[in-house]
Amino acid sequence: MSSAEANPLANLEQWDDFVKDRYDPGKPKESFRHYDEKTPPVVREFYRLNHQNQTREFVLQKKNEYTGKRRGPMGIWEAMEYLNTLVDDSDPDTNLSQIEHNLQAAEAIRRDGHPRWFVLTGLIHDLGKLLCLYGEPQWAVVGDTFPVGCAYSDKIVFPEFFEKNPDFHNSTYQTKLGVYEEGCGLSNVDLSWGHDEYLYHVMKDYLPEPALYMIRYHSFYSAHREGDYQYLMNDHDREMFAWVRTFNPYDLYSKGDERVDTAKLRPYYEDLIAEYIPAKIDW
Ligand SMILES: [Fe+2]
Ligand SMILES: [Fe+2]
Repeated sequence: MSSAEANPLANLEQWDDFVKDRYDPGKPKESFRHYDEKTPPVVREFYRLNHQNQTREFVLQKKNEYTGKRRGPMGIWEAMEYLNTLVDDSDPDTNLSQIEHNLQAAEAIRRDGHPRWFVLTGLIHDLGKLLCLYGEPQWAVVGDTFPVGCAYSDKIVFPEFFEKNPDFHNSTYQTKLGVYEEGCGLSNVDLSWGHDEYLYHVMKDYLPEPALYMIRYHSFYSAHREGDYQYLMNDHDREMFAWVRTFNPYDLYSKGDERVDTAKLRPYYEDLIAEYIPAKIDW
């Protein structure tokens, strides 16, 4: 597969923008299922690749590859600057840098008086997108995440694209519970691979549990926005998902906020980072 075929989006934000539009609070509820016609063709193509290629085997292989964190040590601000080198092919005038977008989310959380670890989570939650710079295709970095190894929820966008996924034809994987047990808890469930799961593994020793849930499940829309997959969750997951839902509006809607002065904000955020995270951590 050529790189243009593997990466149909002009930039990763096109996926974020699509999700934002899907959950636009001004949108009438019944229009939720009508995203089809209005979706940019590159976004459709992105989901086609994502749903076709995210097999359980692929997910287990990527977990094996990345959760050992063998890419060497890097500081958080350094990682943010590295992520900023991800160039945006579309509309350079109006698109914010990755750092600015993440600072906007963090600043919106700070303005609302949330705890410091929550502000920090807003700043770093998308750093797993570094996967793109490691050469992973877009469909293995972003996209709504979903459990693999059990039946797909019809609340996942473009469910028809799952028909091309080899797991769709595996009868064990297509029962309601698949390889899982009822109420087994999400920590025992493999979700499609992407920036959420990767960053969770990088951060899991440093942040409080609600922050880790926000990081790990912020793209799991069929669960945190649509309420599906309750049968895989335990009571603790349900309790923690309240935090995931609290975080979601900052992720989706803080983007249009006024420009941030990165240089001016940096000292505050460097202090905040140092409060929780060592100067260099393994990636
Ligand atoms: Fe994200
Ligand atoms: Fe985000």
